[in-house]
Amino acid sequence: MTISAKFHELFGAAPEVIAAAPGRVNLIGEHVDFSDGFVLPFAIADRTTAAISKRSDRIIRVASIQRRCEIFTSTLDEFAPMKKGKWERYLLGVLWAMEITQGVDLLIDGHVPVGAGLSSSAALECSIAVAINDLFDCGHSIEQLARIAQRAENAYVGMPCGIMDQSVSLMAREGSALLLDCRDLSTRHIPFDVASHGLELLIIDTQVHHALVDGGYAERRGDCEKVSAIMGVKALRDLTMSELQSRKSEITPTQFLRARHGVSEMERVRAGVDALERNDFDTFGELINQTHTSLRDDYTVSCPELDLSVETAQSLGALGARMIGGGFGGSAIAIVKADHSKTISEAIAQGFANKNYKKPRFFTSLPSTGARVIRQG
Ligand code: GLA
Repeated sequence: MTISAKFHELFGAAPEVIAAAPGRVNLIGEHVDFSDGFVLPFAIADRTTAAISKRSDRIIRVASIQRRCEIFTSTLDEFAPMKKGKWERYLLGVLWAMEITQGVDLLIDGHVPVGAGLSSSAALECSIAVAINDLFDCGHSIEQLARIAQRAENAYVGMPCGIMDQSVSLMAREGSALLLDCRDLSTRHIPFDVASHGLELLIIDTQVHHALVDGGYAERRGDCEKVSAIMGVKALRDLTMSELQSRKSEITPTQFLRARHGVSEMERVRAGVDALERNDFDTFGELINQTHTSLRDDYTVSCPELDLSVETAQSLGALGARMIGGGFGGSAIAIVKADHSKTISEAIAQGFANKNYKKPRFFTSLPSTGARVIRQG
């Protein structure tokens, strides 16, 4: 049944607007968006769809096809940031951040794997933000929508994420990765054409589910901010590696490692973009290998399942492999020769079985387009 038909069945009329937004993988530039850094994610083909209609009162009714269409009812007067709860707060958070003054009926159909480090939450937020923007004719730019969706997650959900996931979900273009300057949200679209080079981007979902609201993410972000404050700069973006090294004694050993990840990662993004612009996937692969090491050893957000995936891919000839996203679980990526992809996935699956880990899942995706209104009623 289509989302439109399901919406009709649940709420008694067809939706006025339907919009969809994708999840993402991040090629390089991890844990630097909140440090005003550059990141290079792309939108995956999997997306979340939101169908929505205005109501004439202040009631909000929301449901999800993946949650048996059980209707959750609230009102505009009950908005309460940071209220504990489930997935509804991601959704209510966007309605709150968009400052709507009229009730809505909202149905979600989510196809971005949840907890897999592929930004299902940003896909959810951005599908709703785009739908509301259209429904109420708010006239927000995509940069404003990205900031609104981030505010929903920061202030309403309580997850202090950066701006990367929401931006790429809104701004991505088919065939390209998005080079995003997280300071001013300016972008460049960098073609990422692995297929014509006989390569494939393998995505390995370890099935270890992370809960980024749980503190490890915020603690590290806090360390990066403390280092910037101590060094007298606005963000790690404004610090060079030699400045960081020379003032090492002013910060704790842990803060030094966190900041070393941030500063070195920003250098790798620059080098990575140069490599991609020359279609030099060998150099690019080497850079993402270095990113993994830095995330594992300096930033300490990897986990045994991610390390096993990455090491197996690297030992079987992947050009590069690394964990992606917030970490502590979720997915890894590997740039592999297309005809090696199956051998590498099988070896990773076997390695997981040997260690009694959960069975991993494998996907691939080409860079896809950002959020769109797909139908107006
Ligand atoms: C999560 C956050 C992003 C970003 C990544 C790490 O996905 O939502 O803002 O910080 O982690 O790069």
